[in-house]
Amino acid sequence: MYLKRLILKQFRNYQEIDISFKDGNNLLIGENGQGKSNILEGIYLLGMTKAFRSVLDQDLVQFSKDSFFVKGTYEESEMESTITIGYQQGKKQAHLNDTRITKLSDLIGLLKLVLFSQGDIQLITGPPAIRRKFLDMTLSLSSKRYLEQLQNYHKVVKQRNSALKKMGGALSQGYLYKIWDEQLIEMGSDLISSRIQLFEPMNEITKSLFST
Ligand SMILES: Nc1ncnc2c1ncn2[C@@H]1O[C@H](COP(=O)(O)OP(=O)(O)O)[C@@H](O)[C@H]1O
Ligand SMILES: [Mg+2]
Repeated sequence: MYLKRLILKQFRNYQEIDISFKDGNNLLIGENGQGKSNILEGIYLLGMTKAFRSVLDQDLVQFSKDSFFVKGTYEESEMESTITIGYQQGKKQAHLNDTRITKLSDLIGLLKLVLFSQGDIQLITGPPAIRRKFLDMTLSLSSKRYLEQLQNYHKVVKQRNSALKKMGGALSQGYLYKIWDEQLIEMGSDLISSRIQLFEPMNEITKSLFST
């Protein structure tokens, strides 16, 4: 799939911009502060429903305006789809083609994207948890099953931890504790084998890159 066209209105430094992208590599070149990252931010918003450099949607609105509009058209398997996200009075409204998407998180993963920016140097220098989160996010985009496995795993961890808290130390010797843990071990091994499977194509690519 690829993003064909992006329209930003009253978004960051853009009053209005309409960009067409090619299928393949696209390069944005410009002076510092010219708005390259703002374009990436618009794309990221369409894929992930939120900004990556700030927590507030309001920050994306052009200074002295009160709303923004972002529209992206992507092609997948020769089919064109359009996602729009508008923001006004503190609220975002999204559409996929002409259908209103009431649950914003339903949009996540339609426009498949991976952001790699300067902060992501942490992926190499930071603790493993950061790498795991990045991998989980990326793998979830390529496999719905992986996302489901991951969500289930986290659900069981949460249940187990709150049960442990409620019952205090008494549980630690009990059989319930064992049941949770057996379930977690099983789910965890499933996750690991999915990771290995999903990684295989990437391993092939890295092998060829490092053999030259
Ligand atoms: N909400 C906003 N409204 C208008 N301009 C903004 C807003 N947020 C950031 N900017 C402007 O966007 C510019 C930075 O754009 P950015 O995409 O980070 O540049 P770069 O090309 O270096 O990646 C700055 O000039 C900044 O003033
Ligand atoms: Mg930048």
